[in-house]
Amino acid sequence: MHLQIVVALSAILLCDAKLPRFKPQAQPNELPANPLHSQGLGQLQAQSKTEKTSRIVDQYRVRHRREVFDSKSYESSLTWAHSERLDQNGEVILRWVNTDSSITFRLEAKTLGYVGLGFNSARNMRGADLVVAWVDDRNGNAQVLDCYGSEYEDRAIADDVKNYELISGYQNETHTTVEFRRQLDTCDKQDFVITDDTTQILWALGPPGSDGQLPKHVKSGARPLRLLQPVSKPESIPLNHWDVRLTNLTIPYVMATLFWCKIFKVPDLPKKHHIVGYEPLIDSRPIRNNVPVQEPNSMSPVHHMVLYECAEDDDKHLWNGWAEGEGYFGPNRPSAWATCATPIAAWAIGSQGEFLPENVGIPLGEKGGVSYYMLEVHYDNQELHNVLDSSGIRVHYTSSLRQHDGAVLGAGIGVSALHVIPPKQKAYKTVGICSTECTEATLPEDGVNIVSVLLHAHGTARKISLKHIRGTQELPRISEENYYDSHYQQSRIVPRGRKFLRGDTLITECTYDSTSKDKPILGGYSAKQEMCLSFILYYPRTALAGCYSMTPVKEFFETFGVKEFYGLNFMQVENIFLSSGSFENLPPLPLSDEGQKHIMNETGEEQGVQGDDQGVGLMKELVIWEPPEFRNKSFMAHLNEMPWAEPLLTEQIEKTLYKGMHMTFCKRRDDTWGVPMQIQSYPNYTELISNETAEKSCHYKSVRLPSVTKTSGATTRSFSWATLVALCIMLVVTR
Ligand SMILES: *[C@@H]1O[C@H](CO)[C@@H](O)[C@H](O)[C@H]1NC(C)=O
Ligand SMILES: *[C@@H]1O[C@H](CO)[C@@H](O)[C@H](O)[C@H]1NC(C)=O
Ligand SMILES: *[C@@H]1O[C@H](CO)[C@@H](O)[C@H](O)[C@H]1NC(C)=O
Ligand SMILES: *[C@@H]1O[C@H](CO)[C@@H](O)[C@H](O)[C@H]1NC(C)=O
Ligand SMILES: *[C@@H]1O[C@H](CO)[C@@H](O)[C@H](O)[C@H]1NC(C)=O
Ligand SMILES: *[C@@H]1O[C@H](CO)[C@@H](O)[C@H](O)[C@H]1NC(C)=O
Repeated sequence: MHLQIVVALSAILLCDAKLPRFKPQAQPNELPANPLHSQGLGQLQAQSKTEKTSRIVDQYRVRHRREVFDSKSYESSLTWAHSERLDQNGEVILRWVNTDSSITFRLEAKTLGYVGLGFNSARNMRGADLVVAWVDDRNGNAQVLDCYGSEYEDRAIADDVKNYELISGYQNETHTTVEFRRQLDTCDKQDFVITDDTTQILWALGPPGSDGQLPKHVKSGARPLRLLQPVSKPESIPLNHWDVRLTNLTIPYVMATLFWCKIFKVPDLPKKHHIVGYEPLIDSRPIRNNVPVQEPNSMSPVHHMVLYECAEDDDKHLWNGWAEGEGYFGPNRPSAWATCATPIAAWAIGSQGEFLPENVGIPLGEKGGVSYYMLEVHYDNQELHNVLDSSGIRVHYTSSLRQHDGAVLGAGIGVSALHVIPPKQKAYKTVGICSTECTEATLPEDGVNIVSVLLHAHGTARKISLKHIRGTQELPRISEENYYDSHYQQSRIVPRGRKFLRGDTLITECTYDSTSKDKPILGGYSAKQEMCLSFILYYPRTALAGCYSMTPVKEFFETFGVKEFYGLNFMQVENIFLSSGSFENLPPLPLSDEGQKHIMNETGEEQGVQGDDQGVGLMKELVIWEPPEFRNKSFMAHLNEMPWAEPLLTEQIEKTLYKGMHMTFCKRRDDTWGVPMQIQSYPNYTELISNETAEKSCHYKSVRLPSVTKTSGATTRSFSWATLVALCIMLVVTR
């Protein structure tokens, strides 16, 4: 029973994953050779924009006379590597392409007024880098302005140095289209450094005619994107698809958090195919007056979905039955489903799906291969609606096999209440280890190749990194996100891939900002709880499916000052944790009042409301015996009452849990252990020396322009995002 239980735990640990995608970036295309553009940015800035635009306008006129107007003929000859809608309706489309040092944008916006674009690490304009562009209705001249957002209020201020270079701009009856370029790092404190971290792209549209004298914007928004990440595109050959979705599942309003799992049988394929991508199928209908209604704008409660491969099982009859059934509420699913532990596709809110890198596919329909898959849907129904749901995942596959058979490995911190993030912390770090012993036992002699990684945590996470240790030396990070946004779940390509050898160690490190919280956050599946996971796409396929760690129970409670509980020793508590909070075969517990309520309510629907609680309930039930100063308190009450504002305390806890003992789990695809669960100390290695300052090369530092900005007077150097723009503009015009 013990084993099966841990298995269940590790299966659950996998409850989030996502497939990466990759396209070896085509040689980034440079701007067409143009003597004007090949000069330094400073010089360009110094040129008369009017002159440049009128040149462009002249070209346009020539073309216009020659042929029927075709806006395409007016574009620069760049191939846009990326193209994204910034808003829901596609009124603002951003296309871009970058080189090692610069990035060129094309912004198509449904406005005849100005269009503003911003870059920031947060979804607001505080400290943002802003650029505003428009086409003058009278003469067709385009202008672009460099501004930044104030740190203290929603105002934009003209930059001292202009770092945006206009390439072209025109408008037709409905749209304004501008192309402009900047350096990735302008070495200007007033500009945002564009890196491969997630960037919040802000946009704003002015009303018609708002070209020279700008009133407040009429529409605005923000969207997280990674500007410098290569993306994998669907292939040009037609793909087949397999829709893995629930049918008419009713989510009752009492279920704030619900996990639903269902088994699916593989499509009947005569030979091996490759899964090359997936996209979400979201079909949620709120039930109003007993009738499900299709509301275009209603928010779906689907928070994330994961499709897992199940290990082969001889009992086809049983599995076929499950495949025809409705599925199960997560915690009630049959224990055999724990063998569905290898994630192959994972979607989370904010993602439009993904395609795999071109050289990798995940096998589907192999003879004698996997026959069953489990779809897990996590509903986050905090609004407490009744909903009829038929959501799922569309899996794209092809018979033209790719070069490598890929697989996804889950790593990080085992999802459990033992993963505690104290409140009031600016940057609290936790780690999950995939041990040397595990990779030694499960990987082939010459290792595997990592192609992409999905880093996953919830709302308090700010940074996630996947570290790679070989021997006693840390190698460069496999993947890293410094501005994590839990609403933006897309894999990150590992540039040129990474060779990961047998015996190497993986460390997933998460940094949380809990300054706005008053109580500790515990690990768990609810969007309000936390996680710290990496889903790693690699090839060739191996037996390894999951590789996690968590703090051993004894070390955990001792770190929080607890020596003994009523009725249960640490070993028994550990067994409960490893069995995902099941209470079978344990002596009756003397319970706190809080615990009593929880247990009594467990018989009813309440557990459903709470979701799969991963030990949170147990934390409320455990009553402290030793030391006497905490006696009779539940552990949860103790945790909530700790003096979290005391930095010495939290630093000590962080250090003890981070660098202390870790209980590691090494799980194979067939649900057996790669190596037995073991308790080990944090690996001893030499940390990578941060190379940031060395790498930064600001040799392209822009030339300061004659102090045009100053003439408008220091008094008017800040504006609201709307009016500010007007001022910015005047500065340029007066020049
Ligand atoms: C105007 O320009 C936009 C953006 O380039 C384009 O999508 C749209 O079709 C154009 N409209 C007309 C009438 O040409
Ligand atoms: C699901 O529910 C909708 C609306 O009630 C109904 O039209 C549809 O036939 C149902 N589908 C199935 C497969 O039961
Ligand atoms: C059980 O839960 C329900 C609903 O959350 C609540 O109304 C009730 O008071 C709880 N029972 C106990 C004994 O606390
Ligand atoms: C703890 O609870 C027990 C039984 O309820 C009581 O006898 C004892 O005095 C309490 N101890 C403290 C320190 O409050
Ligand atoms: C870690 O490794 C270094 C060098 O290999 C060694 O000097 C040190 O004692 C080790 N520390 C521990 C705790 O094993
Ligand atoms: C910094 O990194 C670059 C490559 O990323 C490397 O060539 C260089 O040696 C590193 N410098 C230091 C001081 O580590």
